[in-house]
Amino acid sequence: CGICGVVGHRPATPIVFEGLRRLEYRGYDSAGIATVKDGKIARCRAAGKLDNLKHALEKTPLSGTTGIGHTRWATHGAPTTQNAHPHHAGHVAIVHNGIIENFADLKRSLEAKGRTFETETDSEAVAHLLDDYIQQGLSPKDAAFATIKQLQGAYAIAMIFEGHDNLLIGARHGAPLAVGYGEGEMFLGSDSLALAPLSNQITYLEDGDWCILTRDHIEILDGQGKAVHRPIQTASLTTGQIGKDGYRHFMEKELHEHPVAIGQTLQRITDPVTRRIALPPMPFDVATLPRVTITACGSAFYAGMVGRYWLEELARLPIDIDVASELRYRNPPQPDRGLALLISQSGETADTLGVLRELKAAGQHVVSVLNVEHSTMGRESDLVLGMVAGPEISVASTKAFTAQLSVLAALTLDFARQRSLLDEAKERELTDSLLDLPSHAMEVLGLFDAIRSMARIIAQARDVLYLGRGICMPIAQEGALKLKEISYIHAEAYAAGELKHGPISLIDPSVPVVAIAPSTILFEKTLSNLQEARARGGRILVFTDAKGAEQLKDIAEHIIILPDVNAFVAPILYTIPVQILAYEVALLKGTDVDQPRNLAKSVTVE
Ligand code: G6P
Repeated sequence: CGICGVVGHRPATPIVFEGLRRLEYRGYDSAGIATVKDGKIARCRAAGKLDNLKHALEKTPLSGTTGIGHTRWATHGAPTTQNAHPHHAGHVAIVHNGIIENFADLKRSLEAKGRTFETETDSEAVAHLLDDYIQQGLSPKDAAFATIKQLQGAYAIAMIFEGHDNLLIGARHGAPLAVGYGEGEMFLGSDSLALAPLSNQITYLEDGDWCILTRDHIEILDGQGKAVHRPIQTASLTTGQIGKDGYRHFMEKELHEHPVAIGQTLQRITDPVTRRIALPPMPFDVATLPRVTITACGSAFYAGMVGRYWLEELARLPIDIDVASELRYRNPPQPDRGLALLISQSGETADTLGVLRELKAAGQHVVSVLNVEHSTMGRESDLVLGMVAGPEISVASTKAFTAQLSVLAALTLDFARQRSLLDEAKERELTDSLLDLPSHAMEVLGLFDAIRSMARIIAQARDVLYLGRGICMPIAQEGALKLKEISYIHAEAYAAGELKHGPISLIDPSVPVVAIAPSTILFEKTLSNLQEARARGGRILVFTDAKGAEQLKDIAEHIIILPDVNAFVAPILYTIPVQILAYEVALLKGTDVDQPRNLAKSVTVE
């Protein structure tokens, strides 16, 4: 979900609408805009995609130079027009991202005062509360402050007021919000993409901050109501970076950006002269580190799983790893001054951020692997290891995943070296294999046609099994996740060795088996498992290298041959064709590739 707002001198609706377009990538299921003109608030909302809102706006145009807009990803209440934001109560309209945890209590006391709620959302309580204070005679500023003091949970909010054409108020707590500075106009947005063509002078609000925008001024206040200074950052994003560049989908474009994302990410952390990995110094002693706790959500979690294999094997570090939504409430005992390693494309995912705060409070050092370095996680970490993947618009993660893996591989080499576990020759060999990856990734991009014929088999299936062993197991998981996300075909990933303990009972010709099987990683073991599946009528589809293909040719129906690479970097390279496969299947199924149903890019609620 996303927020965009403007207070200025030009018609607000087109500005806000285009802002919402740039926020589409976050995923949403309804949208709306409200403006204030000659002191009166008007709004227009629609269920479904922004085109529906566009049609609604053609019928009900909104004028005025101050407005707020919202793309909603339903939490409380179905994605209907009625539940869409902005919510309008009396003299105010608001949009809200996040979850108001005490909304039921607020609603009860507001209803007791005779107020009638129109929607099933938690957010409507904010509108009524705010209007209640206005009706009591408070100024918009005082009413806004009184309102946010009563809210529990996570929120980013934008508010407009009847009788105030030159006023926009925002507030953030646990969900991102930024302001952008213009000439005679000021902007509010969920992220720098929303603000990109409008302003490159951006201030990210901190948790507990709220802000008052007029055409010529922005005032930022903290949770105590005291005016504060927050730095203005010059954003480097341009709208050019967020176009599709002639590709059919952002996902297709972003798949083609794997080589660049890997290359730029590594370039930033490689000494150009020695060609050794040169990470910034860690804020702790790596040699005596007792343990690493890795956490993330979605694809980033599978990147973390690969990181576990690397760090255990090469840096000999004990690892605890779990998805953030579980780790957050597991309360495992923490060693004194261990490392919390967080992975996130957006740096805003609520559960991952929750773990960051828990583990920091528990005395752990916090290092985050992030694509958006200005994000909340970026600001709250002891050290950020940035990926240089560029904006990722498609909801399903692609290039950010290989960039995450590139950082984790580099971190492994750095840690192994600092723990005196890597001799020079081995370090050279592994570093070179990493630095050669962008060109191998380019070769893999030449495989789209071959992968398309494999996709035709998968597109017929209702269920698909992905198998992998060792460090390729998380790549099987990533493959299954991607297929589910964008083609809506049920897919499960299993450690190949577990096949005989359950999923083998599913195997018949209608359930294709996709194996991630480079000849260098436990290949013979995987081969036996595939033979077991073949013997039971399974259709075997494999990603392997030339040597593996030779041994698989009698049992596999379809083989995609990848370049020979060192086992160390194989999980990074094998990710690319596995993601392309999901993309090609989604094309055959005709799904909404970039914005699959029900999914959001940046999940800022628990
Ligand atoms: C959502 C997205 C996934 C992403 C996950 C974690 O589920 O659809 O593509 O992997 O969030 O997001 P993060 O920004 O923390 O990497």
